[in-house]
Formats: sequence, structure tokens, C-alpha cells
Amino acid sequence: MICIDIYHSIHLTCINCGEVFPPNAVLYTCPRCGSLLEVRYELRVGVSWSIFRSRPFTMWRYRELIPVDTRYVVSLGEGGTPLYRAEKLARWVGVKRLYLKFEGANPTGSFKDRGVCVGIAKALECGARVVACASTGNTAASVAAYSARAGVKCVLFLPEGKVAPGKLFQALLHGATVIELNCNFDEALRLVLKLCGRGCMYLLNSVNPWRLEGQKSIAYEIADVIGVPDYVVVPVGNGGNISAIWKGFRELHDLGLVGELPRMIAAQATGAAPIVKAFRAGKVTVDPVNEPETIATAIRIGNPVNAPKALKALYESRGLAEAVSDYEILEAQVAIARYEGIGVEPASATSVAVLRKLVHEGVLEPDATYVCVLTGHALKDPSVVDYLSKWVERYRCGVGDIHYILETVLRK
Ligand code: F0G
Repeated sequence: MICIDIYHSIHLTCINCGEVFPPNAVLYTCPRCGSLLEVRYELRVGVSWSIFRSRPFTMWRYRELIPVDTRYVVSLGEGGTPLYRAEKLARWVGVKRLYLKFEGANPTGSFKDRGVCVGIAKALECGARVVACASTGNTAASVAAYSARAGVKCVLFLPEGKVAPGKLFQALLHGATVIELNCNFDEALRLVLKLCGRGCMYLLNSVNPWRLEGQKSIAYEIADVIGVPDYVVVPVGNGGNISAIWKGFRELHDLGLVGELPRMIAAQATGAAPIVKAFRAGKVTVDPVNEPETIATAIRIGNPVNAPKALKALYESRGLAEAVSDYEILEAQVAIARYEGIGVEPASATSVAVLRKLVHEGVLEPDATYVCVLTGHALKDPSVVDYLSKWVERYRCGVGDIHYILETVLRK
């Protein structure tokens, strides 16, 4: 058990005006200029890969680099997810070395657990009794589970009819109060930001900079297992996760724990791609998409709150951003499942679909090392099975017809 006396300093800094705030200030955006906040810290102690590797493989292996008071951490064993070498999928994508970081293996089935665990610790430290978030589903499931374990009340604001059934089930199962709103995610987030700003609830969306402190551990784990890849491809909605992963790599570099940095690639769905559009135009903020639409409901986001951080990650890393159609997303979801035995939800498959598109267009070289982050588990969204008919072999028949069906199947 360690706590905060291993740090010289921990503070929140505005990424725009540079104003500094104490770490226990309950702030989600800069009170001076309204921009995003980032957690900065300075370590008093030395760290090394050998210290990290002497500990179990969870995200808390790197606990010095996650500057939260560990006395408040309520863990479900988050992080420590597999990084698979995917040889068959690599051939389908058209590259030599492809790794898959399977975040569906987290306790509630998505990468959100890393950030929510840290966010809940901060909520407890601040004495909050109610936590809240707007969500396309995964954050909701994670916040519901962690708040149940921590013993705090949880209120979730969801876009009605747009949350995958597995995620809604998790939220209800863990006993959260679920408020389904007749608006999209972007509007729900604005609403909950305003409500939490009044101080009655602690906000656990990724605009809360502590969330990203947990999620950057994805970078630590990748570097720990294979070193620094040439590219990391990340499905992007609000832009929190890609900024967190980039922050993680940068911190490792600043500490001298790695010698290189990867290039970050943002993957979005064509119907909800404000970051891709802003990146192509060389802009540092987005023009919101008013009616975002995609089968990948997790990333059905038109006005990403972390866009300035995500775009900064792309420019700083000399990265790329690309969007793919719903068809390409489903095709990649099936390929990941069939070639590698890994079941992911549609949003997660966006990373593989985008990589394949960029390689086929000759934008990315086949002879590099790629990591695709697979953000959530297949069981989150079984509703897409209806759309998979092109790839699914499924027969309904009477027992009497079984020989005829089998003959057809085995002859194929
Ligand atoms: N993949 C999945 C499976 C997600 O659930 C999300 C975000 C993302 C990718 C994008 O991550 O927002 O950090 O860029 N889901 C949020 C939610 C919005 O409410 O669960 P991001």
C-alpha cells in the first residue's frame, strides 16, 4: 500500500491557459477559461521496469504512475488485459506484425474500468456520496459496478433506445438509477455536466481528468509486454482514451522508461467522425456533427468533449485519423472473431477496419508493428447479430430434415 507522499507534487493544469489547481479541487473544466484539465505530477521516488514486473499484472503494477491515494481505491482487478499476436488477422489486414490489446477482458468488459476505478477513488477522497455520468453504455456499466462495490449511489443518464442491451442490463443489475433521456449522448453529457457543476453529484465522464490517469495504463501495459510499437490504433468517441494512451507513452518517455514514441491513429465511424474531419482540416477543435449515426453505438458521438486533447495527441505523435463505414466495421468484427477467436463489440472493431483501409490505400506500410486497441467485449451488444446475416451460417429445421441439412453443410 502506498499513498501520496511518494510525490513532490500533484496538481491539475489547464491545457489552454496553464492555470494550476490543487489535486483535491472538484473541477471538471478550467474555472478561468473553460478548457480541459490535465493531471500532472512529479515523483519523489525512482521507478523501473524491474520494480513494476515484480508485481502482479494488473494496472496497479504501475501504481507510482497513477497519482491517486491508493487508500481510496476499490478494485475489481482492472487492467492486465491480454495483448495477442494476431497472425491470421494480420494477413487479412495486410501487415506483418499486428497485436490486439483486448480490453473486453476487464471486469465489466471494457477499458472504462481502468478510468472509473481511479475516478471512484477520487470521488471517495472528495467525500462524494453520489456519482453520475452520461453514457453510450460502457461507462454506465462500469460506474454502476464500481459504485456498487464502493457503496456510493450511482445515477446514469442514457440516450433512450441507443444503448446496447448488455450494457443496459449491467447498469440495472448493479442497482444504478437509470434515467433514459429522449436526446442523444452529446445532449445528455451537456446536461449532466451542468448538474454536476452544481456540486450535487460527482461526475465520472472522461472530461474528469482523473479518469484518464487510469486509462493511460493501457500504454504502460503495451510497452511492458512488447516495447513501443510503431502505431497504436484506437476507436474514438469522446477522445478521452486516445489522449490517455498518448499521455501514458509520453510519461514513460519522460521518465526514460522507453526510448521511442508511437504514432497514434484515431478510428471513427463515418456517420460520427468529427475528429477525423477536424484532423484533415488541421484544426485544434471540432465542428460538431448534429445527428451522429452508426451501428457502433458506443462511439455514436457528434461533439466529443475531449477533442482538443485527442487532436493534440494526433498532431504531437504525427498520427492519423480515418473513418470507416458500418459495413467495414461489421466485416472487421467478424474477421477478428473468426481469425483470432476474440469477440468484440462493433465500436472496438473500428480500429482494425481503419488499419486495413489505410494499408489497402497505401497510406500505411505493411512492414511496421501495429497495436489495435479492442475496447469492449462482444457480449455487450448481441443485437448486431441480425446485421451479420451475410456472414452467419444458421439453419432452422425440423428434426426430420437434419440429414438433408448436414449433407448440404458438410459438402460445402
Ligand atoms: N470503444 C468503446 C467500446 C466505448 O465504449 C467508447 C466510449 C469508445 C471506444 C471511445 O472512447 O470516448 O474515450 O474516445 N464509450 C463512452 C461510454 C462514450 O459512455 O461508454 P473515448
